[in-house]
Amino acid sequence: LSSADPARSERAVQVVAHRGSSEALPEHTLAAYRRALAEGADALECDVRLTRDGQLVCVHDRTIARVSDGGRRVVSALTLAELEAYDFGSWKPGGDDTERADPERRSVLRLESLLELVADCGRRVDLAIETKHPVRYRGRVEAELLKALERFGVKGAAAGDEGDPDRPHARLMSFSGVALGRLRDAAPEFPRVYLFERSLPLRLWPGAGLPAAAAIAGPGIELVRRQPELVTRLRAAGHRVHVWTVDRPEDVELCLELGVEAIITNRPRAVLDRLGR
Ligand code: G3P
Ligand code: CA
Repeated sequence: LSSADPARSERAVQVVAHRGSSEALPEHTLAAYRRALAEGADALECDVRLTRDGQLVCVHDRTIARVSDGGRRVVSALTLAELEAYDFGSWKPGGDDTERADPERRSVLRLESLLELVADCGRRVDLAIETKHPVRYRGRVEAELLKALERFGVKGAAAGDEGDPDRPHARLMSFSGVALGRLRDAAPEFPRVYLFERSLPLRLWPGAGLPAAAAIAGPGIELVRRQPELVTRLRAAGHRVHVWTVDRPEDVELCLELGVEAIITNRPRAVLDRLGR
């Protein structure tokens, strides 16, 4: 399972805060992302959805039931103003006194606020942005996302890529080959990550290939645990590998042994501690 030079890949591995520092604070809130930056995360992961009035917000699920007091309302059926009336933070206790009092802990997060945070944070922090519901809007999520990235001068780069120290950088992710194809056609400069959870589709297995629209593989950790050789094969075929969501210490060790390029975790500080960073 060893990579050619484990010490080198350990130094280089990018630690990505999944929905912010989301073990500690409510996911996808500005407070959780501020915490991830303070903890030293190299990159921030987020999911984006479109509101009824065409605004990009960072919410994972189709409805807001799990992460707010808004019940089973559907994100895409609400306007941004309607979403802003709900409390997205109180469902999850935790944080210090300042974080508990922070109104940004309770607000739904607009993608633009996250882009501002990264643009102003004073160091290079990458974004790993996942588009949700690619079918419903037939490309509108992707189109709005690319417009927002352009407005903020975000450049395309992935873990390990050179970049401009004064600009934010992003890679784009999806479970949908269709969404990735749209992103490739509209903005080929942004690296794309093909996410998969249970298995790599069978027809792709023999060559450990990926859909043509993505160069980076994004397997879930449960699959990596079951089939670590998949990572070896993907890397041998020239793909970088970004694994999610890696929270258990033994899973961090496995990812390091395999030499993956990015570890996506709800506990960025714990992974950075393991790396001595
Ligand atoms: O970073 C990829 C990972 O977030 C994909 O799964 O369900 O957490 O969006 P999910
Ligand atoms: Ca995600």
